[in-house]
Amino acid sequence: MDGVTVIDHPLVQHKLTLMRNKETSTASFRRLLREISTLLCYEVTRNLDLTMIRIETPLQPMDSPVLEGKKLVFASILRAGNGLLEGMLDLVPAARVAHIGLYRDHETLQPVEYYFKAPEDLANRVVIVVDPMLATANSAIAAMDKLKERGARNIRFLCLLAAPEGIERFRTAHPDIPVFTAAIDSHLNEKGYIVPGLGDAGDRMYGTK
Ligand code: URA
Repeated sequence: MDGVTVIDHPLVQHKLTLMRNKETSTASFRRLLREISTLLCYEVTRNLDLTMIRIETPLQPMDSPVLEGKKLVFASILRAGNGLLEGMLDLVPAARVAHIGLYRDHETLQPVEYYFKAPEDLANRVVIVVDPMLATANSAIAAMDKLKERGARNIRFLCLLAAPEGIERFRTAHPDIPVFTAAIDSHLNEKGYIVPGLGDAGDRMYGTK
């Protein structure tokens, strides 16, 4: 599918299966999410631009590559997005972090914004937006609208699971934003859950159900 990368690394697929299993405890789910997010982060940052800098090893001077430009921004769609943040920050500790408070009204399935905090200079940074579940895509689309309104131009969206309906809607609304996911599931059910999915990601990581 154009603009969509499925991260099919065996470790990602193995951990995802453990996370889908309803017998997996909250503690294990959280640990797996942290581990899998590090692997997903590795893939979503794979083609970042590099620039050469001059350094000296203990033996001699050399030109060596480092990430080009300003620090990355990881933008978490609250609250489930936070589950992906920690593992990503393990890998890129200097990244800046944005929080976008959008919850899904369980009746209308529409996103309701209650919080937005991001670095000022979004226009000059690569922004990686994280939310484990791309279901209806309502929240993801609203988050991208907001980030673009604040100047972001170079955005990627990273999730764990996506529904075909969500991908379709997201790519129609934001064709310039590539999507990275560990799997594309069968469909959305009438309550907006991804099937077969893993249930409510926020509830499973925080033990709120
Ligand atoms: N959000 C979730 O946490 N799970 C779904 O299946 C869909 C949206």
